[in-house]
Amino acid sequence: MELNSLLLLLLTALVCLTSSQDSCGNRPLVGPPGSSRIVGGRDAPEGAWPWQVSLQLLSIHTCGGTIINNLSVLTATHCFLKFWGRKRLFRVVAGLRELSTPGGHAQIRFISEIRSHKGYNHVTTENDLTLLLLSSPFNFTDHVQPACLPHDVRHEFILNFSHCFISGWGTSYYKGEHMNTLQEAEVELIDRRKCNLLSWYGGRITENMICAGLESGARDSCQGDSGGPLQCYSEDEERFYLIGVTSFGDKCGVPRRPGVYARTSRFADWLKTNQTASVSAANRLNTRLISALLSVVLMLF
Ligand SMILES: *[C@@H]1O[C@H](CO)[C@@H](O)[C@H](O)[C@H]1NC(C)=O
Ligand SMILES: *[C@@H]1O[C@H](CO)[C@@H](O)[C@H](O)[C@H]1NC(C)=O
Ligand SMILES: *[C@@H]1O[C@H](CO)[C@@H](O)[C@H](O)[C@H]1NC(C)=O
Ligand SMILES: *[C@@H]1O[C@H](CO)[C@@H](O)[C@H](O)[C@H]1NC(C)=O
Repeated sequence: MELNSLLLLLLTALVCLTSSQDSCGNRPLVGPPGSSRIVGGRDAPEGAWPWQVSLQLLSIHTCGGTIINNLSVLTATHCFLKFWGRKRLFRVVAGLRELSTPGGHAQIRFISEIRSHKGYNHVTTENDLTLLLLSSPFNFTDHVQPACLPHDVRHEFILNFSHCFISGWGTSYYKGEHMNTLQEAEVELIDRRKCNLLSWYGGRITENMICAGLESGARDSCQGDSGGPLQCYSEDEERFYLIGVTSFGDKCGVPRRPGVYARTSRFADWLKTNQTASVSAANRLNTRLISALLSVVLMLF
């Protein structure tokens, strides 16, 4: 074979591999968010949040989570407080809209490793982040997709989000029952200084947290939404980013007590390091392919 065509092949292979990793934050079945705002919560359309998963303990919904690649799901550490080391009791369900009727698009996976942030503090709720490594990868479909993650705080700022949403099967009011159909609501990101005012959270919100909701409390996450996504749409890139992981709130929907989320941009390094094992396992084949191609090219010289 000619050197030129080999180089072309190598280049094509590299381009394919990089672009496949770039695909995130798209929802094939639902268009971009419109300009009309959603009041309160409502049933999410089919395929609206393809990265949203239900984390289930003995088949009962306990928390939300977000797919960030085909072998990893991001969720909250406090979801596991009573179940340390009990990964076999849990399962992760993607492609789900109605909890009671999973349907043909649902994909069920088990957990091979629970990686909780070592700095988690149950008093302050600081670092409420856990990465779940799955025992087998999700198949990406119209109903199952990964969300994008900001590279760092600067990137989060540049993205200049226009619309942010929360989603989950959590209760619609404090101490209520879980919802059967996935709910969604549009929320506003609330400035940290405002959220830390004495009449709000009074200094409890750190740089690693982000407040979102409405001042009136009319739109909020609630029990059972924990670990699920706060997702924002980038008009420039036309895709969704996971900006926060649902962490805590003072009851639900209380004025000046919006939902508080672990701010993913502040954990970019932690996420990169801790995802490595899973991604490297998935990419082992790719790496082998690249080195094989490279050695063929080198042999020709
Ligand atoms: C994933 O998709 C591939 C090809 O579309 C299919 O052969 C395979 O059975 C699927 N795996 C699962 C677990 O659904
Ligand atoms: C998982 O993702 C990796 C790349 O990130 C890819 O090489 C692999 O084929 C994917 N596996 C499945 C089953 O889709
Ligand atoms: C951010 O988006 C708004 C509209 O949503 C636009 O008016 C503004 O110019 C944008 N800012 C930057 C820096 O792109
Ligand atoms: C996760 O990342 C942190 C910091 O980047 C590192 O100290 C820790 O060892 C990592 N954990 C695992 C299990 O790789």
